[in-house]
Parts: sequence; structure tokens; C-alpha cells
Amino acid sequence: MRKIYIYPSILSADFSDLGGEIRMVEAAGADGIHLDVMDGHFVPNLTIGPVVVKSIRKISALPYWAHLMIETPEEFIEPFAASGADGIFIHPETGKDMAAIVDQIHRLGIQAGIALNPETPAEVVLGVKDKIQRVLVMTVHPGFGGQKLLPDQLEKIQLLRGMLQPEVLIEVDGGVNEATAAAVTRSGADILIAGNAIFAQTDKPAALRSIRRQAEEAL
Ligand code: DX5
Ligand code: ZN
Repeated sequence: MRKIYIYPSILSADFSDLGGEIRMVEAAGADGIHLDVMDGHFVPNLTIGPVVVKSIRKISALPYWAHLMIETPEEFIEPFAASGADGIFIHPETGKDMAAIVDQIHRLGIQAGIALNPETPAEVVLGVKDKIQRVLVMTVHPGFGGQKLLPDQLEKIQLLRGMLQPEVLIEVDGGVNEATAAAVTRSGADILIAGNAIFAQTDKPAALRSIRRQAEEAL
């Protein structure tokens, strides 16, 4: 049976107690932490930078992946690698040279992934598919947590699964919850990112476990 990984997105966490929130999801069985980095240009929202990642790095040894929703990713690879991120996602919609930035990420000894906005076709990964470790499929328009999953994106997950080597993991980001997790895994995703569906719930550990259960039962 293929393994399903759950990565809580701290975008919906309580930022006054980020350490506590990360410890809580780690104890509930999270497989990694998803860090949404927004610059107010690439997306209409602002979030965290490398200083925050550096501070929360000491909280957990789980893999931390930074999802760079910023116009100039090439300028921030070095600071995010130095802050302790284990992997970095970059967006082709920035118009930047994906292959060059992937190489830049690898030279710093960490993993690289490509994140695709809903309107971006799967074929965009073809030029870098043999050098990346992960692909992230945005199932909402990036910028905010708590949106509804766009069901037409499930087809893109299937397409990507057919294009990529099995060791390249597919992550799904946006609107993943108890109700959508099964369809997401059935489409071929390996990693489910969930923000609102975990951190906006009263019982966060139970919410995480329930998403995992729904995802695994669908396999
Ligand atoms: C959206 C971010 C997501 C977001 C997902 O731009 O990339 O990671 O946190 O949040 P939910 O799970 O609430 O849709
Ligand atoms: Zn994200």
C-alpha cells in the first residue's frame, strides 16, 4: 500500500503560539510541516520569512517545506535553506527559470519542488521532471487558507502521476479536509496539505487523524 503523508499548513495556525501548534500536530502524527511564504505581489497576502522558519526550526525535527509564493524566489533560496528548510517549492508562474532555481536549491543540499497554480497545465513540469523531488498541485487559487477545493484539479493530479517517475511525490494544497481527502488520494496524491481543516478545528489532533483515515481508506 502506498504511503500517505499529512503536512499541516501553519497558515491557519495560532501565530502567537506557533511552537505549541507544531508540537501538537507532530504528536498527532503529522509527517512534515508546510510553510506558506507570501510576498503581497505574487499573491495578495503577506506571511512569514526566513526569520520565522529559523525560530520554529528548533521545535521539531519533521521535514519543513517552504512554499514560496513570491515574485523573486531566486533571491530567497539561500536564506530559506539557511533557516533550516528541508525543501522549497517554487512557482513557474513567476516567469523565472525553473531549472536554474532547482539547481540553486540542490546546490544548497536540500530538495526542490514545482508548485502549479490551478490555471497552469501539468506539462509545465516536463522540462524539470527528472530533477525535482516533488510537485505541488494548488487546488485553490493561492493566497488564503480556508477556500474550497477546485475539483477540476483532480484530473491534473492523475495526469502528473502518469508523467512523473514514482519517486517524485505529488502534494495537494488547498481545500483538503475530511470530505475531500479520499478523492485527492484516489487521484494519485502522496502528500496532503491541510491548514484550515486542522488548525481551525477545536480538536486539532482528531481532525488530522480523521483526514489521514479518510485518505488511507480510499487507497
Ligand atoms: C494557500 C496556501 C495553502 C493554504 C491551504 O495559498 O498555499 O497552503 O494554507 O489552506 P487550506 O488547507 O485551509 O485550504
Ligand atoms: Zn501552500
